[in-house]
Amino acid sequence: MCPPDYFGIEYEINPWMNVRVGSDTERSRRQWGDLVAELERLGATIEQMEPVRGLPDLVFTANAGLVYGNTFLCSEFRYEVRQGEAEHFAAWASAHGFEVVRMPPGYHFEGAGDALFCGETLFAGYRFRSDVRSHQWVADRLGVEVLPMELVDPRYYHLDTCFCPLAPGCAIYYPGAFDEYGRSVLRDRIPNLIEAAPEEAASFSCNAVVVGRSVILNRGALKLADALREAGFQAHPLEFSEFIKSGGSAKCLTLYLSQPPWQSI
Ligand code: ARG
Repeated sequence: MCPPDYFGIEYEINPWMNVRVGSDTERSRRQWGDLVAELERLGATIEQMEPVRGLPDLVFTANAGLVYGNTFLCSEFRYEVRQGEAEHFAAWASAHGFEVVRMPPGYHFEGAGDALFCGETLFAGYRFRSDVRSHQWVADRLGVEVLPMELVDPRYYHLDTCFCPLAPGCAIYYPGAFDEYGRSVLRDRIPNLIEAAPEEAASFSCNAVVVGRSVILNRGALKLADALREAGFQAHPLEFSEFIKSGGSAKCLTLYLSQPPWQSI
């Protein structure tokens, strides 16, 4: 995770961002601190990186890259305003013992924002940020099965805004963010799919951090909390209003550095 010292709405690269609205610095610090505290309470160990002035979205470490065992596949950002982040993420990963891998020039890949394992399969969102050929490159490099899915609604521009693996065969998704093909892939491959209602998806409830059976997500998703309970999970609501103004929430603020326990490499 990366503290929000220099976080702000300084440009507009998704439909949620509005530079005239901005974000509240004190509130974003408090919300980020509450997430750290809750993750630690649930038993997670947090590694922090240094924030960098002039890189307001560095706080969204889900977009740093994709971690697979000891390999760190560094992101190649679509928009110039975020491209300066990659060297900081790569430096952090290499200083922490990861083998850093960069893609060939011209590829766009936004890391764990668009590439999420559910069991052994990598579900990969493309169109607004990552390219489909980048996902193919990742799959070849890692030797894993990848299922690319087109994202069709610009509000759900990263896969982690509309899809959240909970355990092998179990995930949250928002159907409206996918086309019919994507929906059918998800339904075929994930037997226990929990559907987020449109208004709850629009408050970023799919952008959740999973620690065991605990699911940290933006406050107010009551229907989803019920569905999670039925599936054997427990919702832990927190406030993420300041980050939602930038198009991110709980999950975007984190990057899993070790594999989920179900995944073997
Ligand atoms: N403002 C950031 C952007 O548009 C938000 C990134 C959210 N990250 C995520 N993994 N969904 O790139």
